[in-house]
Amino acid sequence: MNNDTIKQYLEYLKLSGIQDIFINPKKQINKAELLQELEKKYCNCKKCELHTGRHKFVYGNGNADARLMIIGEGPGAEENRLGKVFVGRSGQLLTKMLNAINLSREEIYISNIVKCRPPGNRNPLPEEKKACLPYLDEQISIIQPELILLVGKVAAVTLLEIDQTLKAFRERTYTFRGIKTYVSYHPSALLRNPHWKKFAWIDLQKLQKDYLAL
Ligand code: URA
Repeated sequence: MNNDTIKQYLEYLKLSGIQDIFINPKKQINKAELLQELEKKYCNCKKCELHTGRHKFVYGNGNADARLMIIGEGPGAEENRLGKVFVGRSGQLLTKMLNAINLSREEIYISNIVKCRPPGNRNPLPEEKKACLPYLDEQISIIQPELILLVGKVAAVTLLEIDQTLKAFRERTYTFRGIKTYVSYHPSALLRNPHWKKFAWIDLQKLQKDYLAL
């Protein structure tokens, strides 16, 4: 509809006795703002015991319009201190791995299964994961990535609901919430077992091929 047609239509409404019309301009959803608001809303969460050791709630970081989302396990000591995902030693390795396939942290979004640090970096307990997963679900719904990379067995078992070894997980891709999903090693496992890096590299190359084809 052009401006003249709109003007004519408004004239017509006026002549028909209609004095007021209510316009509800569709507000463009800004995903980044929405994520920021939600982070603020949840950052004092006390839904599980992990809040007792929390210094900072680690919601997630990166590009709200990302086409690729990476999901890890839970914050470590450095993440708890700074309130940002993957900023410790394993985060530095993750950044290097991404850079090796020409991806930057700014381009993607990274989050975790749980948003508060499990004490001593133990695996999150079922009730902790259950309490926290709605936050991740919501992040996925907002970001709507086209690819997901789950790093580590905890993220894979939790989201794909299959109990198998990481080696078995890596053998195929999955459809999680309609999104093509990869599983690879957690960077902290690669720090402990550097000889697995060659396998992680194979996973990354497959991921890069799909990412470039998006
Ligand atoms: N390990 C994770 O799984 N997530 C982080 O944010 C840091 C370390």
